[in-house]
Amino acid sequence: MVNTNFTDQPLIPQITEEHESLRKAVREFARKEIMPIAAEHDESGEFPLDTVKKMGAMGLMGIEVDPEYGGAGMDTLAYALTMIEVAKADASHSTIVSVNNSLYCNGISLFGTEAQKRAFLEPVASGEKIGAYSLTEPMSGSDAGTMQSRAVLNAAGTHYVINGRKSWVTSGPVADLILLFTMTEPEKKHKGITAFLIDASKPGFIRGKKEPKLGIRASATSEIVFENYECPVENVLGKPGEGFKIAMAVLDAGRIGIASQALGIAEAAYEAAVQYARERQAFGAPIGQLQMIQQKIADMKTRLEAARLLVYNACAAKERFKVTGERYSTEASMAKLFASEAAMFITDEAVQIHGGMGYSKELPIERYYRDARITRIYEGTSEIQRMVIARNELGLR
Ligand code: CAA
Repeated sequence: MVNTNFTDQPLIPQITEEHESLRKAVREFARKEIMPIAAEHDESGEFPLDTVKKMGAMGLMGIEVDPEYGGAGMDTLAYALTMIEVAKADASHSTIVSVNNSLYCNGISLFGTEAQKRAFLEPVASGEKIGAYSLTEPMSGSDAGTMQSRAVLNAAGTHYVINGRKSWVTSGPVADLILLFTMTEPEKKHKGITAFLIDASKPGFIRGKKEPKLGIRASATSEIVFENYECPVENVLGKPGEGFKIAMAVLDAGRIGIASQALGIAEAAYEAAVQYARERQAFGAPIGQLQMIQQKIADMKTRLEAARLLVYNACAAKERFKVTGERYSTEASMAKLFASEAAMFITDEAVQIHGGMGYSKELPIERYYRDARITRIYEGTSEIQRMVIARNELGLR
């Protein structure tokens, strides 16, 4: 599906007819169903369950998952194009799509056993249930290997007993199934972290405080708490002690999703700014005729297209990984770093071009600005992306 070039950089995947028809379908759905409710959900912070279910029915909650496990069986570019279109309409919806696809489903697709795929992947990829990914803790964010939560194997060797508090879990208040990372052998530091598949309906799982947020307000985020939660050994994803590597490998895919989300938000802000610059009159002419506005438009467009190329490059690198197993951490981190910084620049300039109207809740411009901010923080801050890129370049990994 993707025309991957294995030797030359940059890798630019081909947009096929299949990609185009997916993009058209998602764009139409987003315009008709998501855009009209975005402002209302931003204001109330209510999780958009109806539209999430409809996206599930369209196959958007497991885009790259094998159809045998309820997915759409498409490629990384299809996922990125979907993320861009959904984020253009509403970033909150795209956050939900992102976690479900690239963090939760991707993790199980890569590391799950047949039984785990049936029980934990199929219901989420098909949109019947909602998935989440839980790595962060109150005292363990960027330094993800320092978590305090614990899982202890019982004497019979049948269950792990999990205790602890996880924070900033996207979809935490609503998730049915969760990919959890917790410490099984603390003395081994990151090599003592294990990945677990958690059924949130079981005793000992408690949903904690919901986070009030600046942006992506309709994507529910919360703490989750484990109090003597019993997880069967069959629900260990990968091997005990492999959790940190699984978390990192999965985040590589997640970062392409967030880069695509940033691109979608930026594209929406850019298009609105261009339209406003054509229409708004000042000093006897449309403001687009003023050189200071033209400079902004030129800089916004250049960053937008550069971000798009890095996102496409990362998509192709992930397709390469599917064939060769070669890591694409650098490509994913470059795409996330650049696209999220570009989204911040573009949404800020869009507010500036709109003046007072950019600051008003009558238009979505201020929401784009607030929503873009998280893309520089979650799934690894811009500082962490720079660390990943530089360490890889310097051979320090
Ligand atoms: N793929 C596979 N393995 C990887 C890897 C990757 N991408 N990155 C690192 N590893 C491996 C390393 O090779 C190393 O293996 P060995 O022990 O065999 O040598 C091991 O993992 C440890 O790697 P590091 O020494 O590089 O680990 P570190 O402690 O220095 O941390 C880090 C590296 C990049 C800073 C990492 O901690 C990190 O990415 N931090 C940010 C965490 C993050 O993004 N959190 C967001 C959580 S999700 C979220 O935002 C909420 C949500 O719901 C969306």
